[in-house]
Amino acid sequence: MPTVPVPRRRFLAAATATAAGLALGACTSKPHTGAREVGPSAPAVGQAEARRRRQGAPIREVVLAAAPASIDLAGRTVTTWAYNGVVPGPLVRLRAGEVLRARLDNRLGEPTTIHWHGVALRNDMDGAPGMTQAPVEPGGRFTYQFTVPDAGTYWFHPHVGLQLDRGLYGPLLVDDPAEPGGYDREQVVVLDDWTDGVGPSPEQLQERLAAQGGMGMMGQGGQDASQVLGGVGGQIDYPLYLLNARPPADPPTIRARPGQRLRLRVVNAAAETAFRLALGGHRLTVTHSDGLPVVPVTVDALVIGMGERYDAVVTLSDGAFPLVALAEGKQGQALAFVRTAAGARPAATVRPGELDGRLLALGELRAHPRVALPARRPDRTHRVVLSGGMMDARWTINGRTFDDTVPLEVRQGERVRLLLANQSMMVHPVHLHGHSFQVQTRAGGGAGPRKDTVIVRPMGQFAVDLAADNPGQWMLHCHNLYHQQAGMMTIVSYLN
Ligand code: C2O
Ligand code: CU
Repeated sequence: MPTVPVPRRRFLAAATATAAGLALGACTSKPHTGAREVGPSAPAVGQAEARRRRQGAPIREVVLAAAPASIDLAGRTVTTWAYNGVVPGPLVRLRAGEVLRARLDNRLGEPTTIHWHGVALRNDMDGAPGMTQAPVEPGGRFTYQFTVPDAGTYWFHPHVGLQLDRGLYGPLLVDDPAEPGGYDREQVVVLDDWTDGVGPSPEQLQERLAAQGGMGMMGQGGQDASQVLGGVGGQIDYPLYLLNARPPADPPTIRARPGQRLRLRVVNAAAETAFRLALGGHRLTVTHSDGLPVVPVTVDALVIGMGERYDAVVTLSDGAFPLVALAEGKQGQALAFVRTAAGARPAATVRPGELDGRLLALGELRAHPRVALPARRPDRTHRVVLSGGMMDARWTINGRTFDDTVPLEVRQGERVRLLLANQSMMVHPVHLHGHSFQVQTRAGGGAGPRKDTVIVRPMGQFAVDLAADNPGQWMLHCHNLYHQQAGMMTIVSYLN
């Protein structure tokens, strides 16, 4: 049974965590008053929810059973863990302002939780084990219930151990009836790196990373520096890269008519892989980053880090076209075909020229005026230094691993600037729970895209600003699952 990492200054009472069967070690001897922190059950959390809640808002119910499941990978049956027996998990879809009531049934042999990635939800429903809830024990249940305030492309996954590197993830779409569509069809595209049942287990990968610094463990292609990422994007060469759980030997087909405008909602659910995405013969008009609208930008290709989402609209030509997600800096790709007419299907190794065409740059994205944060000087600034090394597989924020972290303190109502500084040679997609910050780009006079996950390149540095309007205790971490597990996580902590 995995231990759930819990920081010394964790919020949840030790008694709760102990009852949940956590290995707390020295932590239990450190009494924690918690007097200053706005905890998950603080009145302010309920008040923030009440402000989001519409009178008579419909409640959408869903049951998600996390359990062992068999899936077919191009004719090979592999056993994994999944929600409701399917990978990706069932599409959860509702309208902005509605309430999601999701019951998690844990039929795994170890504790789990669900985190609703990107949703500005009430803190006690955030799924952070030992922080916002006790993990759900095997055989146990937990019902998540919260208002979903903003339209967009989100996703859900466990927040325990290496569970995300199995099949436990699913898309969460929130519609805004008032949002102008501008498209005829849509397609959810969930990308993943896959080893479960076909290569080493996630636990074996983690051990090898720790023991050998990843050197030579992952076949010929491991640890290639990616020019596009400016360094090492990931250390693990996965046996397979999947698009909607299909390997390139058995690619899914997206059917449409020529001239139709297709909205792609792309989610990177991979544990350790960034992808470069392009559609052969087409340009992508990027309309949303991490769910929220941007001023549209048209490019040939885009890079999507772990945890990120991009929505893009394409106007389809006549024929059959490869939608390729290249595993950036690795060997392999995920693949689908978009087909509007009869015609030969390209090979599984097809590499459309668009992949090397004009690439989306973070600095050129602007938040759509509907979602841009009003300009305001930050009330406080926290440095978030990302460091560590591939050789010892110890990854830190501000020099500390999560078990020893010093939370970043904020107060409700403040504008908070996080200065993200990567002092390592690897890429870190940094994710904050419960908020969409605004990337500060020089060219945009500050008004970069709203996002909840952002790639920080090796030795790169920039600021993101957030409106501290969602009280609670929120995880801030690298969405490289193996970095997160190796300590690269801290807390944005609201204080009274
Ligand atoms: Cu998608 Cu804390 O994670
Ligand atoms: Cu990282």
